[in-house]
Amino acid sequence: MYWLGLDIGTGGSRALLVDEGGAVRHAFTAPHEEMRMERPLWAEQHPDDWWRAAQEAIRGVLAQAGATGSAVKGVGLSGQMHGLTLLDAAGAVIRPALIWCDQRSQDQVDWINAAAGADTVLRCTANPVLTGFTLPKLLWVRDHDPASYERVRHLLLPKDYVRYRLTGEFASEVSDASGTALFDVVNRCWSVELAGKVGVDAAILPRVYESPEVTGGISATAAAATGLAPGTPVVGGGGDQAASAVGNGIVEAGIASCTLGTSGVVFAHLESPVYDPGGRVHTFCHAVPGKWHVMGVTQGAGLSLQWFRNQLAPGTEYDALTAEAAQAPAGSQGLYWLPYLMGERTPHLDAMARGGWVGLTAKHTRADLIRSVLEGVSYSQKDCLALIDAMGVAVRSVRLSGGGARSPFWRQLLADVFGRPVSILASQEGSAYGAAVLAMVGTGAFPTVPEACSALIREKETAAPRPDSAEAYRGFHQTFTALYPALRPLFRLM
Ligand code: XUL
Repeated sequence: MYWLGLDIGTGGSRALLVDEGGAVRHAFTAPHEEMRMERPLWAEQHPDDWWRAAQEAIRGVLAQAGATGSAVKGVGLSGQMHGLTLLDAAGAVIRPALIWCDQRSQDQVDWINAAAGADTVLRCTANPVLTGFTLPKLLWVRDHDPASYERVRHLLLPKDYVRYRLTGEFASEVSDASGTALFDVVNRCWSVELAGKVGVDAAILPRVYESPEVTGGISATAAAATGLAPGTPVVGGGGDQAASAVGNGIVEAGIASCTLGTSGVVFAHLESPVYDPGGRVHTFCHAVPGKWHVMGVTQGAGLSLQWFRNQLAPGTEYDALTAEAAQAPAGSQGLYWLPYLMGERTPHLDAMARGGWVGLTAKHTRADLIRSVLEGVSYSQKDCLALIDAMGVAVRSVRLSGGGARSPFWRQLLADVFGRPVSILASQEGSAYGAAVLAMVGTGAFPTVPEACSALIREKETAAPRPDSAEAYRGFHQTFTALYPALRPLFRLM
């Protein structure tokens, strides 16, 4: 018997089959088309490409297991958050989705704050509205593509579009809904008040569930397309960060996770909603029913290294890049990388922030360049952790996941920069694994999410901070934090 976890990421859709004991038995990834960046800071993907990849991933993983759909007891979904997926009355996709890292909607953010009041936004949703969130993206379509806007009858998030194709249901769950800027995070329901104030018809919003709840069953059409059995329950699942936190066992206080994918996210569990007064970290609903979480987001984490590789070392394996970085000294001989390739969320909340190196001299080598990229991303993740610390959320240790977790060098670097132990888990699957765990809970294999996590999730290796390096990195991080304020006025001229 298996549970299927399906993650609709940015780079691809990944399907996992997990057995009763929580072991990942089979995995299959179907890549997505690259995000289209027609202009700087724009980022779009076509929802039908997610569905194409999701079908491929499900069929692929079943074929790998030599299993039929009847072996799958439940399905859990996770996915990239915030993406604006718009459907017409017939359920057809109206236009490509503006995805999470698209930053074109600053005018709409300003308009929302003026029309509804920034205080009202905070009171209704527990967070300030940001360009990354879904509502300003929707209003960008209202302002710049009115013909599409008029046809909108349903707004869905990326994984929820795949859910719609799998089950025919318009449904979401609390963790992903939290990132729309239309969700009342404290009361775990849509903010009809805010929707009204900004002129959005709340009828376009999907029904919201808690993450382990069953939202529907596989339809006959989807069964034919994927090989799953008709009626197989599909649970709510989670936004990729909340699902990844479940996969990493971040379901109680004391441990945080750091997920280094395209973005980099530091995530901590909350028993009740706690806010950063500056709104620089997000307070969202957790995929654990009745709980919350706080997270800080570096927009260009893995993206920084991917950009470096694509532009300056095409074809080089990531392992070779991190091995080269290890040859440079800590601090990269005074070279600093600002990872703001797609603006920045935490801690700057600035869509105009720009990336780049500061401190470059003729003596720097390519090893310094690479190391500085890894260090700059790590400093930015430390900025996130520092804000979470400042909110009084205790974090003893950090569990690392995502592509960045594969590198022992980066793991040690993070332990030194954070000044805290950084571990990796026996299962490195993050979001898709968390989605499968939520499916196990939703179909009765475990009574609660924390009980499932304590039965299934084990730490494998831990990197302890090295006192000398940690001391040196405290100083480097201080210099790093002085760079953005100095450059901020210049970013406005670029
Ligand atoms: C979270 C966020 C990213 C995306 C893409 O707020 O924007 O983590 O979900 O992974």
